[in-house]
Amino acid sequence: MRTLLHGRFGMQPLLRLLQDGQFHSGEELGAAIGVSRAAIWKRLQALEAEFDLSIHKVRGRGYRLEAPLSLLADDALGLPSVWPVTLLQQVDSTNAEALRRLASAAVPPFLVIAEQQTAGRGRRGRSWVSPFGENLYYSLVLRITGGMRQIEGLSLVVGLALLHTIRGAGVTDVGLKWPNDLLVGGRKIAGILLELSGDPADVCHVVIGIGVNINMRVAAGDVIDQPWTSIRQILGAQIDRNRFVSDLSLQLEHYLELHRRDGFAALREQWEANHLWQGRAVSLAAGVQSVDGCVLGVDDSGALRLDIDGSERVFSGGELSLRLRDDS
Ligand code: BTN
Repeated sequence: MRTLLHGRFGMQPLLRLLQDGQFHSGEELGAAIGVSRAAIWKRLQALEAEFDLSIHKVRGRGYRLEAPLSLLADDALGLPSVWPVTLLQQVDSTNAEALRRLASAAVPPFLVIAEQQTAGRGRRGRSWVSPFGENLYYSLVLRITGGMRQIEGLSLVVGLALLHTIRGAGVTDVGLKWPNDLLVGGRKIAGILLELSGDPADVCHVVIGIGVNINMRVAAGDVIDQPWTSIRQILGAQIDRNRFVSDLSLQLEHYLELHRRDGFAALREQWEANHLWQGRAVSLAAGVQSVDGCVLGVDDSGALRLDIDGSERVFSGGELSLRLRDDS
């Protein structure tokens, strides 16, 4: 596992110059970072290999990225100062990195963000496709002091914060799907993976992992095993990811505070109002077993309420998966 720190190997300054997607001559790039023209080509080749980027070289014009990027920069993130941030260029998974930092005595709250994940984790053992510089891979670590009550409904509340951030970016028709997917037109735009460390009855920490498809283009589509979209695909324009991160942090700070103070019950109505599958006929699967029912909503702990043959049943658990029934 490797974590490249910001600016190490001088990669970052070069990418920063190229992120506009315009041509830059070898001479200009060399002068800007203080190396020869020949060294520039070597470094660009290393960048291509390291981050799976495509850099075009045209005689007489110079170099340009195949597509512009909006790179993250710690000085542009504008995060609430309560959450110190570590910005990595590449990591296996920001959740895994956050858990390692916890294990080596880092003190929460803190935030780990990366430009690329090589082994991004999704729910139910799935992987999360995480190309360099296009999306958001964000893990916030919090200490849980209020026992189970502080965890109940937490992932749904994070969904609300994310919903408002994505709407604020201009995607008005984004909605929630229980427990914590964000969809636009039936396609996934963001996901949330909570991982606990410790015992909720004693000392416990939660890693709130958030993945958002921000500027992902069509190219990665063939390796994603479910319908997906990105903010860029919907709006037809590249999004400023630094701005998105700071908006998300502000929304999270707000919603986490409401949840800490009043619990999920106070946000339940708002969550249901944004639930895309309220009243729909669904199948709920746990492994190979499944039940059919109609979505009534969620309870005060964030568990799913289904009407099954006229009686209400309640379901919770990270391994559950909800699908619309074909006849719905
Ligand atoms: C899902 O399956 O919907 C959850 C996806 C969560 C992905 C995010 S990206 C940042 C964090 N690090 C990970 O490895 N996973 C989460």
